[in-house]
Amino acid sequence: MKNINPVKTAAWKQLNNHFLDIKNVHIKNLFHLDKNRFTNYSIIFNNEILVDFSKNRITEKTLQLLLCLAEECYVFDAIKSMFLGKLINKTENRSVLHIALRNKLDSKIIINNLDIMFSVKKELKKIKNFSNEIITGRWKGYTGKSISDVVNIGIGGSHLGPYMVTESLKAYKNHLNIHYLSNIDGTSIIEILKKVNLETTIFLIASKSFSTDETISNANYLKDQFFFKTNNLNYFSKHFFALCENTSSALNFGIDKKNIFKFWDWVGGRYSVWSASGLSVALSLGFHNFELLLYGAYSMDQHFLNEKLSTNIPVILALINIWYTNFFHTETEAIFPYDEYMHIFPEYLQQNFMESNGKSIDRNGKLVTWNTSPIIWGQSGTNGQHSFFQLLHQGTTLVPCDFIIPVLSHNPINNHHEKLLSNFLAQTRSLAFGNDYDIHKNEISNNFINKNKLYQYCEGNKPSNSIMLKKITPYSLGSLMALYEHKVFVQGIILNIFSFDQWGVELGKSVASDIYNNLLYNSFNKKYDSSTEGLLKTYKKWNNIL
Ligand code: F6P
Repeated sequence: MKNINPVKTAAWKQLNNHFLDIKNVHIKNLFHLDKNRFTNYSIIFNNEILVDFSKNRITEKTLQLLLCLAEECYVFDAIKSMFLGKLINKTENRSVLHIALRNKLDSKIIINNLDIMFSVKKELKKIKNFSNEIITGRWKGYTGKSISDVVNIGIGGSHLGPYMVTESLKAYKNHLNIHYLSNIDGTSIIEILKKVNLETTIFLIASKSFSTDETISNANYLKDQFFFKTNNLNYFSKHFFALCENTSSALNFGIDKKNIFKFWDWVGGRYSVWSASGLSVALSLGFHNFELLLYGAYSMDQHFLNEKLSTNIPVILALINIWYTNFFHTETEAIFPYDEYMHIFPEYLQQNFMESNGKSIDRNGKLVTWNTSPIIWGQSGTNGQHSFFQLLHQGTTLVPCDFIIPVLSHNPINNHHEKLLSNFLAQTRSLAFGNDYDIHKNEISNNFINKNKLYQYCEGNKPSNSIMLKKITPYSLGSLMALYEHKVFVQGIILNIFSFDQWGVELGKSVASDIYNNLLYNSFNKKYDSSTEGLLKTYKKWNNIL
């Protein structure tokens, strides 16, 4: 993988000049100039997903220059390196092979002289057998009853991926109740315990490292509650399971060896839903649907690997984002799924984008002078339309948006879905075209101001991508997730940062554990800044520790 400073490339310099030509061009004019703009600026993936990027502030020249940037930054080589299992996660000395978890080709993927596909398939079989046991009711709890509830204990990638998928695919859900416990806040655990009966509940401790404080503290509490209720060590193996890489810590915790579902160091936490970490998905939807999710991601992987850059969906979307964050200097990017089941999708993407590309040191060890990740935010439509969309239409901040909608709803009551779809189309259209543009422009420039009209003025020229899925299915959701994963990858490659570590998060973890040791006692064995000390003292005083 080459470490190219993007701003030093010829393409970047040309883009800087080109930006001066584009910055005042209105999307409306781009549509006037090209009657086939929709056809020219949209790609259909497998007859399942339509990506329309025509409502962006780009021309053919913009795309050409952005594609030159991708070439100058050796994007295609980087893609190949990832698929070949090269050690592209250099700061952690690891391969990045979540694509292996969904690989459907017969070919081998060799890491340290071993074909990792052998272990991947073995573990998938274990997931299949176990999920069938639970779903069919053959697996019994300690009192001989079948399992009704599953509690996934995990945080970050061990939570967001499985949680988002189970929510997004609720329409495919079986009889099992799935609960997600992530926060260290005792409230979360207490509220879940109110809902479940320990006799018929299994606990999945999902933690790659099996050392994350939130997860292990929650798991310990539940373990204690379980012993308190059953008073029998032998029952533990009927109810507690580990989904992890660090098997020795899971064994130390008391997990039965056969209850460990394993994954590997080349699976990043935020990509782990495709591995054993996605066991709650297989339990909730059945293994067949879990396989379809993997299959959908595999199809997008093949598109990403084999399609030329100019029609490669993740590449195009990544380039458009670099155009906004680095030339228009936008700071955020919004994701709006017009599908209530997908309400966690923006939150899930936040981790993927910001934990990956929220970096400021480049791959050459130098401070970056360009923007890396935008802030990702969003929520399901149409709720946002009645609150913050006002800012999108008339505010002073430019926010590139992705609008996502299925053509077919899982719940097509009355004409609700047609109305939802109309709102989806209305938003992207209004953002791009505004209202009565010419009239208002004249009125403003002639100083002939009809006050009411002035305040109603929506300039338009606000960019968005429209992503239309035929239906939200395990297959199409898998493809969509892989699309965004690869988009983040391409952005990281071009922006010359390491996308697969998260040292900032690690700092927070170690400082928290240090402070925790100072929190419990009435003296300080360490000096902090005056603010942290002031807050600690107040905590101790109000908690009667001082
Ligand atoms: O939040 C940081 C992080 O390391 C994520 O990357 C990861 O998904 C999460 O913590 C949980 O880690 P683990 O699965 O090891 O408990």
